[in-house]
Amino acid sequence: MSAPTRNAAAGAAALPTLAAARAKGTPIVMLTAYDYPTARIAQAAGVDVVLVGDSAANVVLGYSSTREISVDELLVLTRAARRGVDGIPLVGDLPFGSYEPSDEIAVATARRFVDEAGCDAVKLEGAGAMLSRVRAIVAAGIPVIGHVGLLPQSVSTPDGYRAQGRDAEQALRIIADGVALEAEGCAALIVEAVPAAVASLLTARVSIPVIGIGAGDGTNGQVLVFHDLLGLGEGHVAKFVERYAEGRAVLEDAARRWADDVRAGRFPRDEHTYAIAPEALAEVTERLGRE
Ligand code: KIV
Repeated sequence: MSAPTRNAAAGAAALPTLAAARAKGTPIVMLTAYDYPTARIAQAAGVDVVLVGDSAANVVLGYSSTREISVDELLVLTRAARRGVDGIPLVGDLPFGSYEPSDEIAVATARRFVDEAGCDAVKLEGAGAMLSRVRAIVAAGIPVIGHVGLLPQSVSTPDGYRAQGRDAEQALRIIADGVALEAEGCAALIVEAVPAAVASLLTARVSIPVIGIGAGDGTNGQVLVFHDLLGLGEGHVAKFVERYAEGRAVLEDAARRWADDVRAGRFPRDEHTYAIAPEALAEVTERLGRE
């Protein structure tokens, strides 16, 4: 592990519950949420941290890429999730194009997520030129979570979603990026779709919490996309997803049974219907008759 810089020390302290979990060796559980009900479910399930991911682009807004969601769209969803989360950190994902152009733009966007949506931290993808963005956002007093490995915002075609770090060069790059992000003050890291051994090496080389998705069990915690976990989506899911429910099938079945009941005259029944006093109804009928 490299000697911590001043920024790194500040970063490690920025999300204290996650830092404490890493220190104790308690796995950190992060789940995405995108609105009030999903945030309430995440909180009730006892997760440690909620991420309003730009995966909302795909799973909520129906875009084909995370690159398509705008800041304004994600802010609406993040504000809704904020209303459902209390007492655990809420992390906002900075959308594609909203932080890369300059440090000033990155800080301005991050501030919107804090001021307009009540985020406790923001997340951004990549290192390299993004190290300066991290430094600037951290200097503005906003905790940042870094994201290395597979970077969905850098993928422009559906077949571009591939595991990263499977050769030595790439693996070393991912580890070096994680170390550099810590040095710039990141409070935690997400590592996506890399071999477990690479994620473990990265985790051992930084002192901030490392949360994996498709990165094996050697990290300090796990994150999954709400809709993947609960089986709400359609089509292909990544190898690293485990469905804990077939939510879509359950919901579709309920909607179909209701539609069948309406068509068959089984809904609504008396218990779904408001009454009117007979004398009031008599008066209505009588007055209508007079018109
Ligand atoms: O946008 C998102 O949901 C994410 C997670 C997959 C980490 O970035």
